[in-house]
Amino acid sequence: MEHQPTTPIVLDLTGADHHGEHETLRASGPAVLVDILGVTAWSITDPALLKTLLTSPDVSKDGRAHWPDFQEVIQTWPLNLWVGVNNMFTAYGSDHRRLRRIIAPAFAARRIADLTCVVEAIVTDILDHLATFRADETVDLREHLAYPLPIAVIGHLMGVPADQRTVFRTLADGIFDTTLSTKQQQANTKKLYAALKRLIVAKRSAPGDDMTSLLIAARDEEGDGHGLSDAELRDTLLLMITAGYETTVNVIDQAISLLLTHPEQLHRVQAGAARWNDVVEESLRLEPAVKHLPLRYAVKDIQLPDGQTIAAGEAILASYAAANRHPDWHGESADVFDISRVSKDHLAFGYGVHFCLGAPLARLEVATALRMLFTRFPRLELAVPATQLRPQGSLISNGHKSLPAQLGPSAA
Ligand code: HEM
Repeated sequence: MEHQPTTPIVLDLTGADHHGEHETLRASGPAVLVDILGVTAWSITDPALLKTLLTSPDVSKDGRAHWPDFQEVIQTWPLNLWVGVNNMFTAYGSDHRRLRRIIAPAFAARRIADLTCVVEAIVTDILDHLATFRADETVDLREHLAYPLPIAVIGHLMGVPADQRTVFRTLADGIFDTTLSTKQQQANTKKLYAALKRLIVAKRSAPGDDMTSLLIAARDEEGDGHGLSDAELRDTLLLMITAGYETTVNVIDQAISLLLTHPEQLHRVQAGAARWNDVVEESLRLEPAVKHLPLRYAVKDIQLPDGQTIAAGEAILASYAAANRHPDWHGESADVFDISRVSKDHLAFGYGVHFCLGAPLARLEVATALRMLFTRFPRLELAVPATQLRPQGSLISNGHKSLPAQLGPSAA
């Protein structure tokens, strides 16, 4: 049996050295107790064990039903939105299936492939704007590419009017910022709910060909208890809009910085010897947008292979980033960015019934952004040494504060 520390490992909410922290977690065994802002949970870093738990009916995401601490935590924990929302993200069993199937068909891979032209048109506009900067000027690619693309795409799909998209961006950023106090988070949630209410009112009076209108119709046609409740409608919109913003931003940011710091691999893709999709998958493996996913709960006692027990009602943290670099999965080179590695399997989109609904869309957006960016600006480079790129202040999301670059001459 691995050594189990007597007190939980306190996770750093600023995420300043997350790779070092993930190494410590892995070294402590497949499952280790951690402290997340005062909440104790089992961090699972062993990929095989994590997959087993993510597909087990003995593990739930419904805190209301399966977490005795829920009522207390929901009042005081800064991350309470992550466990308290009423949507598929925190649902279990038949409730989860009901909430997911209302919107899942619209995100199926085949439907998303039809959006290729829409995504390309949005990227073209963004690159045209980038081309207005001088070749030697420093441009923050996070601000001028990584954010605008997912915001425009999810805004288009959900029917969020252009003048409201910036508001949602600020509020989505707040959800992922684990350095905010409970009071600051509560204020953020209040503003987010007000913005969602405005969106629902506007779409209910003037429905469009978008997913917000589709969800409102599901609410209004089927009524309480059968389709969506008012809280489920509001929180499903919250999930779709915020999940679609922040995560994809970080993958675009990470993939660009990985390519710029590994020019030989960038040249291989530009020469046609590797695919942009290889870059996307290897970036997702090495620097997943979601490092840890709070929370899951043991429905009953779970005996672990190493002899430990997760007792019924205890919380579980899916530590995806630590699992993705596990040497048992990717060998001694698990920490290395290598777009030609044979297996680039990862858990960046989760696993099991809660597998990310937006994965095909996210993959399309990131691959399109990379292909078009490096084609248009083939001599793009970082404007600062890679060691000066600062991580965001977050235990959950994995991006940089900014991504300063110089575009070089445009190929167009
Ligand atoms: C690269 C970008 C993205 C990453 C890395 C990502 C990651 C994830 C992860 C890790 C989960 C699983 C959570 C769990 O363990 O329970 C998840 C779930 C989810 N994601 Fe994403 N996501 C991305 C983009 C998107 C986009 C673009 C959308 C929507 C358009 C989206 C919508 C969702 C939804 C609705 C769920 C909840 C599914 C459920 O609970 O059944 N995601 N995502």
